[in-house]
Order: sequence, then C-alpha cells, then structure tokens
Amino acid sequence: MKTQKLIKLSILLIFIPFSLSSFIPINNFLLNCGSNTNASIFNRLFIGDSTKQDSIFLSSHKSISLTNQNPSSNLPTLYQTARIFTNNGGTYKFILRKNGTLFARFHFSSFKGHGFDLKDANFSVFVGGKLVLRNFNFHFKISSNNNNDDDDVIIKEFILKVVSNFVEIVFRPVNDSCFGFVNAIEVFSVPEDFVVDYGARFIGPYGVVEYKNLSNQVLETIHRINVGGLKLTPFNDTLWRTWIPDKEFLVFKDSVKTVVSTHTPNYQKGGATREIVPDNVYMTAQEMNRNQSILASKFNITWNFPVENGGVRHLVRLHFCDIVSPSLNLLYFNVYINRYSAYKDVDLSSLTFHTLASPIYVDFVVDSNDSGVIQISVGPSDLSSSMRINAILNGAEIMKFVNVTDLDSHVSSQKTRFLLVLVCSIVGGIVILVLVIAFFLVRLSRGKKKLKQRTVESVGWTPLGVFGGSSLSRMSEGYFGLNKIPFVDIKLATNNFDKSLIIGAGGFGMVYKGVLKDNVKVAVKRGMPGSRQGLPEFQSEITILSKIRHRHLVSLVGFCEENSEMILVYEYVEKGPLRNHLYGSEGFEPLSWKRRLEICIGAARGLHYLHTGFTQGIIHRDIKSTNILLDENYVAKVADFGLSRSGPCIDETHVSTNVKGSFGYLDPEYFRRQQLTDKSDVYSFGVVLFEVLCARHAVDPQLDREQVNLAEWSLKWQKKGMLERIIDPYLVGKINESSLKKFSETAEKCLAEYGVDRPSMGDVLWNLEYSLQLQESDQEVNEIIHENRPRSIRIERDYDNNIYSDISATKVFSQLMHREGR
Ligand SMILES: *[C@@H]1O[C@H](CO)[C@@H](O)[C@H](O)[C@H]1NC(C)=O
Ligand SMILES: *[C@@H]1O[C@H](CO)[C@@H](O)[C@H](O)[C@H]1NC(C)=O
Ligand SMILES: *[C@@H]1O[C@H](CO)[C@@H](O)[C@H](O)[C@H]1NC(C)=O
Ligand SMILES: *[C@@H]1O[C@H](CO)[C@@H](O)[C@H](O)[C@H]1NC(C)=O
Ligand SMILES: *[C@@H]1O[C@H](CO)[C@@H](O)[C@H](O)[C@H]1NC(C)=O
Ligand SMILES: *[C@@H]1O[C@H](CO)[C@@H](O)[C@H](O)[C@H]1NC(C)=O
Ligand SMILES: *[C@@H]1O[C@H](CO)[C@@H](O)[C@H](O)[C@H]1NC(C)=O
Ligand SMILES: *[C@@H]1O[C@H](CO)[C@@H](O)[C@H](O)[C@H]1NC(C)=O
Ligand SMILES: *[C@@H]1O[C@H](CO)[C@@H](O)[C@H](O)[C@H]1NC(C)=O
Ligand SMILES: *[C@@H]1O[C@H](CO)[C@@H](O)[C@H](O)[C@H]1NC(C)=O
Repeated sequence: MKTQKLIKLSILLIFIPFSLSSFIPINNFLLNCGSNTNASIFNRLFIGDSTKQDSIFLSSHKSISLTNQNPSSNLPTLYQTARIFTNNGGTYKFILRKNGTLFARFHFSSFKGHGFDLKDANFSVFVGGKLVLRNFNFHFKISSNNNNDDDDVIIKEFILKVVSNFVEIVFRPVNDSCFGFVNAIEVFSVPEDFVVDYGARFIGPYGVVEYKNLSNQVLETIHRINVGGLKLTPFNDTLWRTWIPDKEFLVFKDSVKTVVSTHTPNYQKGGATREIVPDNVYMTAQEMNRNQSILASKFNITWNFPVENGGVRHLVRLHFCDIVSPSLNLLYFNVYINRYSAYKDVDLSSLTFHTLASPIYVDFVVDSNDSGVIQISVGPSDLSSSMRINAILNGAEIMKFVNVTDLDSHVSSQKTRFLLVLVCSIVGGIVILVLVIAFFLVRLSRGKKKLKQRTVESVGWTPLGVFGGSSLSRMSEGYFGLNKIPFVDIKLATNNFDKSLIIGAGGFGMVYKGVLKDNVKVAVKRGMPGSRQGLPEFQSEITILSKIRHRHLVSLVGFCEENSEMILVYEYVEKGPLRNHLYGSEGFEPLSWKRRLEICIGAARGLHYLHTGFTQGIIHRDIKSTNILLDENYVAKVADFGLSRSGPCIDETHVSTNVKGSFGYLDPEYFRRQQLTDKSDVYSFGVVLFEVLCARHAVDPQLDREQVNLAEWSLKWQKKGMLERIIDPYLVGKINESSLKKFSETAEKCLAEYGVDRPSMGDVLWNLEYSLQLQESDQEVNEIIHENRPRSIRIERDYDNNIYSDISATKVFSQLMHREGR
C-alpha cells in the first residue's frame, strides 16, 4: 500500500504535466521600475521603465530612480531598483490595445539608498482613476498570502475593468513631505470570462441570491489557495499568480486527507478553463479524512481565512474537480461560508455534464463579519448518506471588493491646491450637470427596465442554478445554455412539425422529436397558438428553466419566440416515459424491482432538488409516470416542470383559474384548499410509487368502481397489510419482504390526507434508498440488527469497492431502531 503510494508520488514528481501557459494577453506590460535595464523573473521580462517605450508614458514632477546600494541581499534584480515619487506624485500611462478586464500587480520591496528608506514611504495608488490602495506603507499589515517568501517583498494584485483605451496608474504620497515608490508593475489582460456578471451566489442571513455586478468591482486578491497541493509560483500558473497550500488555514488538521490525481483534468466546454486556473490546482484536493475512529462519520472540513473585518464584501471563488470518486454521482456535499449555507447538495457529476475529474468553479459573494475571518466549510450532504459520505475542495480564492474613491474626490479632500479644487469643482460641476441630464434621459428611456431589475434584487430571491459560478456564464453562450434557436432550424429539425414525429401532447401543446443541425436529438415542445400562457410568462419560465440542471431533471436546451411562437427545446430522453415500461405498451422488457427502485430514487432526487435547490422552492405540480422519463441507461429524469410555479404559495386568483395536475395524481388537499405546497408533489409521487409497484394506471375507469382509483385501492390493501395481493404479478416472489414493506409504507405516508403529515421529498428519498438497501443487502442489514451494536457502528467491509462505505451511519441505524420500536 505504502510503496504503491510512493511509486505514485514519484511518478507524479517525474511527470508533472507542465503546461506552459496557453494564454497570451492582448495587453501585457511588465515594468522594472527605476531602472534602464531589463530584469527577468519567472521567465518573464520586465522592461526598464527609464527606457523609452511606445505605449507607456511616465509623467512626474519629480521622480527618482533608486538602486539598492547594498545589494548583498538575495533579492532578484527586479527588486533592487525602485522609482520614487515625491511631491504630487507621478503617473504611468499605458496605451491599451483593447479595453477589458485587467490584472494590475504592484511589487514593493524595501531597501535603503540615497537617503531614502523605503520603509518610511506612505502613499496611495490609483488605477484608472480609482483609489485602490490607500495610505500604503510597509507597516501595512494585511495578511495577503500573495507575498513572496521574503518578508521584504509585498505584492498587491488588483482586478478591474477598464472601458477606455488607456489606463493611468497614479502614485501619490500622503503629503508633501512624504514619498511613494514602486519596484515593478504588471498590467495585463485576463481572459474575457474571468469575471462575469451572472451566476455568483450572494450569501447572507437572507439566504442565497444572485449577485449581478461583479465585473464593475475592483477586486483585490487576499488569498489564493491550492487546496491539498503545493505552492505554485508564477512559473506554474497561466496568469503568473502564486498559490499557496491550505494547511495553515485548516481549523482541524486531522479532518482532511490529501488526494492527488496523476491525470490532467478533463476540461469541458462550460466548465473551468486551463486559461483561468492551472491543472495543478485541480489535480489535488482535500477530502474528508474518514479513516480515524475519533472522527464522527459526518463532519465538515473547515478553513479560516483572515480578512479585513467589519462588513467588507468579498468574492470567494471555490474550485472543484471530482478526483476522489471511482464513478459518477457518488459525491454530494454542502458548502458553507461563514456558517451560512452557500450551496446545498453540490453534485459535481451533474455540474460537469457527467464527466469525472472535470473542473468547475463557483463564485460566492459574502460580507466579512467582525470575527476577521471568512470561514469556508465543506461537509457531506444528506443526499450522500447511504452510499458515500465525502466532501472535497480543490482550490479557493478570496478577493476583496475595494471600496474605491475616485481620484478627483481624493485630491479635493486633501485640500492641497486651491487651484485644483477650483478646477475640479468647475469640471465636476459640468460633469454633474451632464450626468444629471444624462440620468434623466436614460431614466426616461429605460425607466421601466431598470425598475424591473431593481425589484429582482430587492425582493431577495432569484432562483439560482446549479452552476452558480461563472462556469455557467460560459455555458450560456455555448451549447448547453440558454440558446435562442431560430424558427427555421426548429422547422428543419422537426421536418416542419411532421405529425409522425409527435411524441407527446400536453396542456401546453404538442411535443415533437427532432434532430438539430449539430445532430443533437431534442424534444421540441410547441406552445399551441393562442395557448393560455402569455409571452411574458413564457419568458420568465425560460429564465428559470435555463438555470435548472440536474442529472434527474430533463434540461432545457433552447427556446424560440419568433413569429409569436413559443417553443421550448429539451434534451431528448431515449427510452421515454416510465409508464410505457410499466404497463400498456408492447415491446418493453418488464423492469426488475431493483431497477424500479433506482428509477424512483432518481426521480425523488430530481424533485428534492426542485423543492430545495432554490431559495424559493419550485413545485412541479404535475408529477405522474408519464412525466418521469428514462434515458438509455434507465436513469430517471423528471420532465415537464416547465409550467411549474416557484414558491410555496401563489396568489389565489391565479391558482383557482388554473388548477393544474392530472386526474388520479391530484392532491386532494390542494383541490380542496386550492393552496399549492411542495407536499402536493409528494402526494402525486406517492401515486407514482404505487403505480410502479402495481403496474397499473392511476385511474382506470374500466375497472370495478372500488378499483378505479389506484391511490384508494392500494391504500385499502396496504391498511389490511395485504398489499402483495395487488402488486405487479411480474414482481411476485422477487421482492424482498422488508424492502416491499419499507417501500409501501413510504408510499402510504406520501398519500396522507393532510400535507403536514406527508414526508418531505428528502425523507422520501431516504426511505427509498433504504428500501433499495434492504433489497440488495438483506443479509448484511440483518447482521446489524442482531449484533445490536451502539449507534456509531460502521461497516468498513466492502470499503474498497465503495458499495457500502458507511451505510450504517446513524440514519440507517435509527431506521432500524424505529422498526424495532413499533
Ligand atoms: C529590454 O527589452 C526590450 C524588449 O525586449 C528590448 O527592446 C530592449 O533593447 C531591452 N533593453 C536592454 C537594455 O537590454
Ligand atoms: C500614513 O499616512 C496616513 C495619512 O496621513 C496616516 O494616517 C498614517 O498613520 C501614516 N502611516 C504611517 C505608518 O506613517
Ligand atoms: C471598449 O471597447 C469596445 C470594443 O471592444 C468599444 O465598443 C468601447 O467603445 C470601448 N470603450 C471605450 C470607452 O472606449
Ligand atoms: C506627512 O505624513 C507623515 C506620515 O504620516 C507624517 O509623519 C508627517 O507629519 C506628515 N507631514 C505633514 C507636513 O503633514
Ligand atoms: C455596479 O457596481 C458599481 C461599482 O460598485 C456601481 O457604481 C454600479 O452602480 C453598480 N451597478 C448596478 C446595476 O448595481
Ligand atoms: C512549478 O514550476 C517549477 C519550475 O518549473 C517546478 O520546479 C515545480 O515542480 C512546479 N510545481 C508544480 C506543482 O508543478
Ligand atoms: C489516515 O489519514 C492520514 C491523513 O490524516 C493518512 O496519512 C493515513 O495514511 C491514513 N491511514 C490509512 C490507513 O489510510
Ligand atoms: C462571524 O463568522 C464567524 C465564522 O463564520 C463566526 O464564528 C462568528 O460567530 C461570526 N461573528 C459574528 C460577530 O457574527
Ligand atoms: C457544517 O457546518 C454548518 C455551518 O456551520 C453546520 O450548519 C452543519 O451542521 C455542519 N455539518 C456537520 C455535519 O457538522
Ligand atoms: C467606503 O469609503 C467611504 C469613504 O472613504 C466610507 O465613507 C464608506 O463607509 C466606505 N464603505 C464601506 C462599505 O466600507
């Protein structure tokens, strides 16, 4: 075992896949300040700023080139010279080839020379007219990990958007008797999607909402962590950044086990890109260390990162790549930031389109509190309980939102030069006047739009997609996202809505099978002309739908709203509705009990996600066996949540005109009270469970009166304890008795008269998984019952096969107790 690890490690050391940065910035300025020679560091050439250059201009009343007179120190050449700014400071102007998001990195190293001790400097730095660094000096103590090993070098890094075709960097001493300096400057473009305006999750006491204005912020890097890995230098990084290990930030060092992968990550369209993060970050991770008996089976891994305290806003970018799972869909975990739930039930498999070891990142925005730390935790999700408890993190970046002050206001607040104040006020006055006029004009023309935007923000909830982070953004433009599909393409795909391609019909309209130009099979749902649903409603549905992605939910590929058409294009699910595989259709093999359970578990998982994956849950409203589709591997996918409404309650008038749902599945309470809750879905799901067990229609008018309604009929037999009399004949003798009992009890609870008495979808999911375990491991579970060991019992057997790494975790056990207690 140990030697194997050693071999692995040495292979790793020899063959570290060193990818030279594939990214070539459009703008790339590297300055060796206060010098007329070039200096090289990490293979990058910094040009002496005293040499004349085409696109960089230095203007200063008085700037001094300073060289370290005592260069015995082992600092690189780059840090042996500095440019000093006295009096009113100085400005570098960089002419950009293209405006956009830039990194601005400043290197400060202190030394003495010519009567200057750089440690005495005290100055502010403006980039693009924005104050990014206020009263900076070497006594400045912010724990920025970005520093070099050497304490004498401080590197400050800012990320900001520039809209003009140049950027000015101003160094301004705090007063006339002070000075400022800099040793080296980097200004370069980053990939366009480095910071985007959608998908970031804003975490706080009010829950999770979408943060939409990232790209307009000036960000300062505070921490950049290669979790589970080694220090990465600018040499190893695509954007010449430094990543440091996470060990020192771990709250409980024994809680983690380091995972190292020897394979390069499977980069995917829509996920993270190599340009944004180097391979190395994704090839290492920390996972839960579950090999120590002192640790309870469920716990969080927690890191504390020191930050500026007192409500300062931060961007937390977390990187994930599932290098721990042997196969897909085993890993479900939760992310907490400052103890708030930041992302529940993360399922990396579905976030990465079912590819293992495929990197993604998620952006979170959070305000620091008075503790002076941002606390990040990952821990197991309730969904992961039965199969495999784990949680991982591969990388973390924490960037502060800089509270910028504009250059002008800063200058005037200093009250230094009367003239300047005067000029400023005149210019300012004109600018304000122009702004006021512009403001009114803009308001006039776009008032409506703006209002809409603001309500979304202030209401405090926006359904957030699984992707969260900017990985989503790239997807939106690509194939997987919200595609606007031209009507001609849809006509082509469906052979002009050929009747022979109709695969379904619903309240909304017809559903056609189609093949898009890129050979992707799709299901095209065409709203009936004059259908009740209005266009605005349709559009808002699309916005919600496009954000929902889950392994067990049919996803929207695109839409079309040309020519007053309302068309939704979904992924095509190969084996069609579950019902066809249960009864009434020829040519399908009967499904085994195990497979039926797996299908029910999948569907329950999808529904659970709809109910809980969003700040305001989404209610499906039309659960039935025809809305549960099976893919080529019999993986269940819940369909037709298109017309779902979000929220636990919707206004009565709306509901009463539009009671949705299908006969036989409809929650009687909903029907009576016309009040929709997620428990209505639970009821309908209960009917589906009996349908799966008995293989008959939910309503069959041809049967005897007492048998017409499946829910009533099966409850009757269930109460008598003789349900096995009416189950699918194919299953007779093939179901383990306790599995059937668990299953039918669960279904029965779903059909409780009152919503409050019904379990949540999460509970249903749990019970179904338990039922599957009873079916699969009858023997094993019996052993637990008989051994009668304490609650913390664990089954380590089969650990390596990952079949039951920890099935007996408290929950199963409490189930067992429960059974015995009856
Ligand atoms: C510094 O590098 C630039 C760009 O490569 C080059 O044009 C210049 O001659 C170099 N200067 C010195 C002193 O080597
Ligand atoms: C730097 O200047 C600011 C503003 O004058 C002052 O408040 C601060 O104490 C100075 N810092 C040092 C270390 O001198
Ligand atoms: C920034 O560049 C875009 C095109 O890349 C251009 O449309 C825009 O006008 C530029 N902004 C400014 C302020 O020059
Ligand atoms: C300028 O700032 C320095 C550092 O904060 C301070 O020690 C000094 O007294 C100030 N000088 C004047 C004239 O305000
Ligand atoms: C986005 O942020 C910038 C900088 O904080 C701010 O000026 C701007 O008003 C914000 N825009 C919106 C729409 O909130
Ligand atoms: C980073 O780059 C240095 C220099 O090439 C190399 O020695 C080191 O192994 C690299 N580290 C990693 C983790 O790739
Ligand atoms: C247990 O975890 C530690 C890391 O905390 C690891 O070094 C050790 O090898 C693990 N032991 C076993 C038996 O896997
Ligand atoms: C701030 O957050 C930390 C870490 O999440 C938490 O332990 C602490 O209680 C919070 N402090 C305050 C004052 O809210
Ligand atoms: C993980 O941390 C969160 C937030 O502090 C907490 O609510 C949750 O109970 C923890 N989970 C475990 C298993 O300890
Ligand atoms: C930002 O800075 C201004 C002036 O320096 C200050 O009044 C304001 O409170 C600061 N905002 C935050 C959120 O710190």
